[in-house]
Amino acid sequence: MSTSGYTYLCRIETLQEGVPRRFEAQGVPVSLVLTGGEVFAIHDLCSHAAVSLSEGEVEDCAVECWLHGSRFDLRSGEPLDPPATRPVPVYPVTVEDGSVHVDVRDSVLSPQLDGGAQQ
Ligand code: FES
Repeated sequence: MSTSGYTYLCRIETLQEGVPRRFEAQGVPVSLVLTGGEVFAIHDLCSHAAVSLSEGEVEDCAVECWLHGSRFDLRSGEPLDPPATRPVPVYPVTVEDGSVHVDVRDSVLSPQLDGGAQQ
């Protein structure tokens, strides 16, 4: 379902606190994270070498990439640790009557990989 740019992804009760879950919204891979009672949506590919952030761990308001350990702030997408240097897009989320929607057209950033990133 898509209403005014927002795409329905799931019911909030299917998300587990601190456990990222991968979705596709209009062809865009998105990781949904419930942390501290709030839902965040971040592009699912690490800006360093494009592995899935849904397989990473969440602490406070950041997700840690499982491959090389960069953490990304779920509010801004900014990297908090090396080796990643570029932010990952984050998307607006709405929760209405328990239904979680995301607008993947409304990121302030386009996905970009670090130049020369190696796995
Ligand atoms: S692939 Fe994510 S930090 Fe390297």
